[in-house]
Amino acid sequence: MRLRHIKGCEEFVNNHRLTITDPESMKGKWKHPLHVEIGMGKGRFIREMAKLNPDVYYIGIERYESVIQKAIERKEKDEAEGIESNNLNFICMDAEKLEDDFAPGEIDKIYLNFSDPWPKARHEHRRLTSPKFMKIYDRVLAKDGTVEFKTDNEALFDYSLESIPASGWELVYVTRDLHAEDVPNVMTEYEEKFSSKGNPIYKLVARR
Ligand SMILES: C[S@@+](CC[C@H](N)C(=O)[O-])C[C@H]1O[C@@H](n2cnc3c(N)ncnc32)[C@H](O)[C@@H]1O
Repeated sequence: MRLRHIKGCEEFVNNHRLTITDPESMKGKWKHPLHVEIGMGKGRFIREMAKLNPDVYYIGIERYESVIQKAIERKEKDEAEGIESNNLNFICMDAEKLEDDFAPGEIDKIYLNFSDPWPKARHEHRRLTSPKFMKIYDRVLAKDGTVEFKTDNEALFDYSLESIPASGWELVYVTRDLHAEDVPNVMTEYEEKFSSKGNPIYKLVARR
């Protein structure tokens, strides 16, 4: 998601109490259990998860300030309506740099929701389920930690069904129609949009 640049969004995000601007200083010291969503967009999923699970500490990662600003504004709206949760923070960064801010094995769960598909073969390395990223997750994720991935993009899902096991991971859950399953599910913005058009939602869970 690349929103039009919002004037002053860097300043807004970098000075906001919900943003962690020096995540390197927290490396090895994050609260646990620590669950991280990579590419959280406007943050509907992670906000809802933080409300439902007050004992889990959530970090939402997103590379664009304009997008994080939206997530912050929605969290502030929740707070204004009396919905408090103090277990959620945001980091503006590229997931390529996860190892700068998280020690080996420090993250307990990683969520990838409706990640950009990057359909061209020459952009494979940008897909968040590519071997390049699975190697990074392997280093920062706890030994028994999981990666949970949802998408409506069949090509990206089929690709991930190959790329993830090829990177040494085991698929412990796979569905091609999540909404037909009797399992708990918190929807993301994209999930709501695409499922309302009738698209099936694909999900997998991977561990080593
Ligand atoms: C298609 S949107 C999905 C947003 C949200 N997860 C949802 O399901 O509604 C994907 C988001 O991932 C972010 N993103 C993509 N690659 C990223 C990376 N390497 N590091 C951080 N964020 C990334 C994009 O900026 C975009 O906001």
